[in-house]
Amino acid sequence: MARRVVLAYSGGLDTSVLVRWMTEELGAEVVAVCADLGQGGDWEALRQRAWAAGAVEVEVLDLREEFATGFVAPAILANALYEGKYPLVSSLSRPIIVKHLVAAARRHGADAIAHGCTGKGNDQVRFEVSSRALAPDLEVLAPVRTWGFSRADSIEYASRWGIPVSATKASPYSVDQNLWGRTVECGVLEDPWATPPEEVYELTVPRRAPGESLEVVVSFEAGLPVAVDGRRLALHEVVAELDELVGGFGFGRVDMVENRRVGIKSREVYECPGALAILMAHADLESLTLERDVAHEKARLEPRWAELVYDGLWYSPLKMALDAFMNETQRFVTGEVRLRCEAGSAGPAATAGPGRCSVAGRRSPFSLYDLDLATYEAADSFRHQDAEGFVHIFGLGVGTWAARQRPLAGGQVAGGTGGQGPGVGHEAPGPGGGRGSRA
Ligand code: ARG
Repeated sequence: MARRVVLAYSGGLDTSVLVRWMTEELGAEVVAVCADLGQGGDWEALRQRAWAAGAVEVEVLDLREEFATGFVAPAILANALYEGKYPLVSSLSRPIIVKHLVAAARRHGADAIAHGCTGKGNDQVRFEVSSRALAPDLEVLAPVRTWGFSRADSIEYASRWGIPVSATKASPYSVDQNLWGRTVECGVLEDPWATPPEEVYELTVPRRAPGESLEVVVSFEAGLPVAVDGRRLALHEVVAELDELVGGFGFGRVDMVENRRVGIKSREVYECPGALAILMAHADLESLTLERDVAHEKARLEPRWAELVYDGLWYSPLKMALDAFMNETQRFVTGEVRLRCEAGSAGPAATAGPGRCSVAGRRSPFSLYDLDLATYEAADSFRHQDAEGFVHIFGLGVGTWAARQRPLAGGQVAGGTGGQGPGVGHEAPGPGGGRGSRA
């Protein structure tokens, strides 16, 4: 009996060729599983292509809602931006794809899953580490890593087997997309000095007249966006709505050189208008509702969460423990954030540069902001007389240290600012603020 393999099928050239190649070279029956994560596409054409390539079963799974609530939502709570910039578009999608590949493998009696990733990227890591966590018994096949096909070889192979790849776009770029955003690599982008041509953008093409502006209110409950301008929406709908809205102002582009897990630096362009607007609004609402220590500790853990997910460790004990921490912090992250979008000002609408989106205001029933304490008006409730004692005790350690060490060091105190070595030229300022070595 032929072995069954479940393939993560995107409908593109490589995975289409893979269907036939595994059928021929491995004598496998290939089950093509495509995850609809909001990337859009012609599902009927995709099915036809998979059948034409020789798949024994083709499944298109609508996972948009599960992706939003199970994978995007934790990323929002964690303000997740890899290297401070990338909202983890592809990184979030691989773990849910693997989860469903494994389920399909069980359904179809397969003993392996397969993906179409190359050996240079992060996605292979995410597929294989996730699979190992969820189903250590399943083999993972990655033929693209070793088959040695160039793009031309693949096109030739496809036409020899009658696989309709003319339908797949012949783009110089490698694109991955889902409801959290769009990633673009390759082509001219491989030169980190080259300005990304406008043609790489789809979600952030400015459509507003110069000078146009707009305000939109995003409501959050327990850390997650639940409504736009008062209209309650499912999470994936909030993202889509904001994509359309802030993307139309040209907001949401990221151009970065990032560190891949496999040790390669890579120039990447991302378009994530809705994602970046939501993350900005969420972090801002936290500034109003999180207590100081919690806020500071969370900020330390957020980059770690993003790094784990980027590295393919979605299904790992540390990532799960961090999720528990993030969840605990979000109970009162409820309220509203008003975003203000402004169109670029130069040129006609079609050529205007990308516009802006920023937080214009925030409010919450659980706000820790106390006007009575914060106001500089005379009638406040802050006990001014307590400040003197507080500051004195707070500075006691530094005062003791300075009084003891300055005379010992001939008026000099080790440490300080500047780029020189310890103790060299770091005099504590004298009483007049000068740099003299007064005894
Ligand atoms: N550099 C991004 C990441 O590692 C995007 C990867 C896009 N994947 C792709 N197969 N085009 O998450």
